[in-house]
Amino acid sequence: MNCNICSILPFGTGCATYIASPRLTRRKKGKMKLIIAYIQPERLNAVKQALYEREIYKISVTNALGCGRQGGYVKMYRGAVEEVTLLKKMRLAIAVNDDYVEKTIDAIVEGARTGEIGDGKIFVLPMDECVRIRTGERGPEAIG
Ligand SMILES: Nc1ncnc2c1ncn2[C@@H]1O[C@H](COP(=O)(O)OP(=O)(O)OP(=O)(O)O)[C@@H](O)[C@H]1O
Ligand SMILES: [Mg+2]
Repeated sequence: MNCNICSILPFGTGCATYIASPRLTRRKKGKMKLIIAYIQPERLNAVKQALYEREIYKISVTNALGCGRQGGYVKMYRGAVEEVTLLKKMRLAIAVNDDYVEKTIDAIVEGARTGEIGDGKIFVLPMDECVRIRTGERGPEAIG
């Protein structure tokens, strides 16, 4: 039987993924979620702090432009009325095992909530797979 990852070399013939590969056949599905959150940029440090307090350290952060239900606002620029529909937000992506979902949501809410409109939103998506590229580990073991 060939390696599940490179599919060229048989197991045990020097393929670097040999040790990790048997886990492929044993992993369970449906145990991971991808949490996407849009927050106010100035709340990022507080959210990170709240995540660290719950031992959640792995996160991807990107700049985003977004529009919530207010749909933006109107401002004057050089005497002209300009509609600003997209506001600066931070997009967080955090992949977790299911037992960390509530903790992650709690941390984001704790760090990001001011009570004002535009505080942000959290989406929880089912996640089929996670692969640690270096080792070939997959699934719940690859996340942490
Ligand atoms: N349904 C959605 N789909 C995709 N992105 C969304 C959605 N709702 C909100 N966002 C993203 O989240 C950001 C923050 O949303 P926001 O907090 O303004 O939501 P809201 O529904 O308008 O709630 P609030 O009334 O508290 O402002 C938006 O700028 C956008 O980037
Ligand atoms: Mg809004």
